[in-house]
Amino acid sequence: DKQLVIGLFGFGVVGEGLYRVLKQTPSLKATIKKVCIKHAGKKRNAPDELFTTNKDELLYDSNINVIVEVIDDADAAFDIVTTAFKNGKAVVSASKKMIAEHLPEILALQKETGLPFLCEAAACASIPVIRNLEEYYDNDLLHGIKAIVNGSTNFILTKMFEDKLDYTEALLLAQQLGFAESNPTLDVEGYDALNKWTLLLTHAYGIVTKSENIVFTGIQNIQGADAAVAKEKSYDIKLVAQAQKLKSGKVAAFVLPQFVPHDDHLSFVKNEYNGVVIESGFADKQFFYGKGAGSFPTASAVLSDISALRYDYHYEYKKLYYHTPGELTNDFYVRA
Ligand code: HSE
Repeated sequence: DKQLVIGLFGFGVVGEGLYRVLKQTPSLKATIKKVCIKHAGKKRNAPDELFTTNKDELLYDSNINVIVEVIDDADAAFDIVTTAFKNGKAVVSASKKMIAEHLPEILALQKETGLPFLCEAAACASIPVIRNLEEYYDNDLLHGIKAIVNGSTNFILTKMFEDKLDYTEALLLAQQLGFAESNPTLDVEGYDALNKWTLLLTHAYGIVTKSENIVFTGIQNIQGADAAVAKEKSYDIKLVAQAQKLKSGKVAAFVLPQFVPHDDHLSFVKNEYNGVVIESGFADKQFFYGKGAGSFPTASAVLSDISALRYDYHYEYKKLYYHTPGELTNDFYVRA
């Protein structure tokens, strides 16, 4: 049986979560040999000898066969992934920003090296949405996806509209609970949801695009008047990411706040939970639901990737290589 020796980059909410989760799952035969962190000298809940600030100690250690990267600096993360691949290591990543910015290069590196790159934690944390989209749906039959992919904004909207907290209190709570990005503007202004959507479009439809090609806005412009309409009509306001196949066969994709009626599945998604509604031929409508942020829920997805490496699982990017990739359009006002 394959022994996985891990070099871990990052020991924040997700990294420490993974460390603790792995301790509780010895049957996985995966051990962390070294953790690379940015700042030495902080008190951490793990033995000192585990930590280093020298990335080469992980990337050039021939005993380490898996690099797990859960840092938020996208440029540093891409550098780590590139070097890891060049040194023959499998990579597990949770860096949605880095992936959204570098997907074409990652695909090329993967093709060149044949090494796995798994990132289930990068979208919807505990919901296995990437593997699901990758494996289950024929491209032609996937009519549309509607999802809540950012836990922090959903948490803030729930706290504001249901628990009557004000925006600042709700955001602070999201930060304290470890849901928000280090720079919470990424959550609030929709960038995090956009990055996740960029990645999911590849697994859903084989669309490889830059996030700047997708229409988006966050929750920063929601006003009292919007809340009043929502209240009057018994709607929820949710930050919804959507991809819809149009009659032309092209795919319209966007991330926008929407009024969601109470009988919509997404209305059921509260706090840091995420939800994904998929409509497809024959299967009809399906709803996936689970925690979309937080230490253990995110670590659970990283753990699933590590576990999958024991049998050399890697995405085949089926929608890209085995189907006809979808075509993105922003002409979604024109439905003819
Ligand atoms: N800040 C992210 C969110 C963390 O709130 O969804 C999980 O990706």
